Amino acid sequence: MSFPIHRFRRLRRTAPLRALVRETTTHPGDLVLPLFVDENADHPIPVASMPGVHRHTLASAVETAREAADLGIPGVLLFGIPGEKDEVASGAWADTGIVQQAVRALKRALPDLLVITDVCLCEYSNHGHCGLLGHDPHGAVRVENDPTLELLARTAVSHARAGADIVAPSDMMDGRVGAIRTALDAANHCDTVILSYAAKYASAFYAPFRNAADSAPQIGDRRSYQMDPANAMEALREIEADIAEGADLVMVKPGMAYLDILWRVKERFGLPTAAYHVSGEYAMLKAAAANGWIDERAVLIETLTAFRRAGADFIITYAATDAARWMRSP
Ligand code: PBG
Repeated sequence: MSFPIHRFRRLRRTAPLRALVRETTTHPGDLVLPLFVDENADHPIPVASMPGVHRHTLASAVETAREAADLGIPGVLLFGIPGEKDEVASGAWADTGIVQQAVRALKRALPDLLVITDVCLCEYSNHGHCGLLGHDPHGAVRVENDPTLELLARTAVSHARAGADIVAPSDMMDGRVGAIRTALDAANHCDTVILSYAAKYASAFYAPFRNAADSAPQIGDRRSYQMDPANAMEALREIEADIAEGADLVMVKPGMAYLDILWRVKERFGLPTAAYHVSGEYAMLKAAAANGWIDERAVLIETLTAFRRAGADFIITYAATDAARWMRSP
């Protein structure tokens, strides 16, 4: 027996019907734009593997943030490239550091824009690791955990002092959220929000970022602190620990290949949860679009919708400005 109109297709017949029953919406207000600020730049420097992304001067960072804010994007996420890198990543925690300067410039120009800062040492250390280097009892080089916590806490406090609304530790040392919360509270920055890169995997998708920020590890890799892509239960334990230590917001990173993790995290904890659409994902989108192999706009909106459907409350994406423009004039 056959029916003239089928049960599911009845609700897909016209655009208004489809809009009526749509389960997931995505708006410019769900997006965060990452910005690179380069202390050595005297003009915006294009990042070759990330078309449309630049290493900014203070002035061009403010202009780019203003353009995003005008489109309804609520916040930016800052990464710094210091004038000089050293063994102890001094540029990360100096009150005169490039991110601290950028926070002050952005808050002055755009007081309502949320300024989020990445808290990590890798862009500022000459070895490119996210923590301090030391030696294990057998003499092998390792990334030290507890001595790093002190510097991460100092970095977060200096960002808060400059006016950051949200600090986002991305280093994956154990105990960093607790160390940062304690230090912020002690410095009377009780209102500063912590967005933890709680489930951050050791991913090959970060390669274009490391070119942009000049932060690739000079020896070894990040697998002794970032997570093994094969593990899901461990992500839940990481998130649970970060929440217990005081994380207000949690993030899953990278994005598209980790939607299962995003879903589990949102289901289990129900905390405001972010997805990071990382540099390699952006580079793949741009490269395929430049070749005419995919429709950039359609693939981007579909991707952002998938993050929302999987449980993301907000999405960090290098394509935020284009996406916001396209969402406003579909
Ligand atoms: C710093 C940091 C990285 C990213 C965000 N914060 C690089 C890394 O861990 O190697 C990656 C972001 C991206 O690829 O877009 N630790």
